[in-house]
Amino acid sequence: MRRGAIFQLTVLSLVIAGIVTAVAVIPHWLPPTASEQADRIDFVFWYVTAICIVIYAIVIAVLLFSSWKFRAAPDDDSDGAPLHGHTGLEIAWTAIPFALVTSMAIISAVVLARNDATGSDPLRVDVTAQQFAWTFKYPQQHGLTTNILRLPIHRPTKFSLQALDVIHSFWVPEFGQKQDAVPGITTNLTVTPNKIGTYPIICTELCGLGHAVMRSTVVVMSQQDFDKWAKAGSQAAGGGGGGGGGAAAGKTLFMSNGCNACHTLKAANATGKIGPDLDKLPQEAQTAGVPLEQFIHESIVDPNKYIEKGYPKGVMPENFASLPKDQLDSLVSFLVASSKGAK
Ligand code: CUA
Repeated sequence: MRRGAIFQLTVLSLVIAGIVTAVAVIPHWLPPTASEQADRIDFVFWYVTAICIVIYAIVIAVLLFSSWKFRAAPDDDSDGAPLHGHTGLEIAWTAIPFALVTSMAIISAVVLARNDATGSDPLRVDVTAQQFAWTFKYPQQHGLTTNILRLPIHRPTKFSLQALDVIHSFWVPEFGQKQDAVPGITTNLTVTPNKIGTYPIICTELCGLGHAVMRSTVVVMSQQDFDKWAKAGSQAAGGGGGGGGGAAAGKTLFMSNGCNACHTLKAANATGKIGPDLDKLPQEAQTAGVPLEQFIHESIVDPNKYIEKGYPKGVMPENFASLPKDQLDSLVSFLVASSKGAK
């Protein structure tokens, strides 16, 4: 009789474990991973999930078995048999969870420590978050600056995150980690990409009107492709500046400062909808009764001076006033040139 009960309980547990395992595995709850850190995090996730499935199956099997086998007969109002403690059982149900929880803590601590380790020579990327754009600067590649992140595969990358206005949060689902960017402090995140591909960068901290569009892209490429790109990019960055390069450099600045995240401008293939359409700058300058160049310059350094109809005040960041003068001039001449082209 007792042996039969244990057999039935075991079968019931296995059936329940099978169903719950299918629920855990089949729908692909987690995104595919593309970094060593995400693989480690997934390992912890599945380790804990497996333990949960086993415990859940045993508990539910005992519950169902008891309510089926030991339910009171109709009209039976008598008390159940008196129960006394069972020392062996009590030790078991204390010691086993203790061992399981301790193992989870140790495994998590090891994974956390390894995920923070950058190795001796990480690639460095300075991330700047602002309403509503990401900017990535490569201090080891002559300060190359971009707003599409590019990373070489298998190289640990140490991100230093800063925010210019409010709290943002850097998240690439495939990399498995999030890190807040907080004004006034620098936060860090280590990522070692291990799959070539293109993945989304998402801001996951509600940061204002444009929060939902504060997105970018990360491209994981081979080390050779990355070196080629970094070399070409840093030459272009170093060669900008004075002379006739003003407007061309301005286009790069337009992208690297994230203007394209919020504004529409055909000349830069920008389609942002948070701020006014920059292809309409000439009309807007006319409405304001100010020469085009002056209108553009003032609108960058003092965004609340002219407010277009339908766009609220105080949305555009005011920190562009601190751009170096030559960069500001390039940006203005680029916008003046593209306005003339668009007319
Ligand atoms: Cu930045 Cu949400």
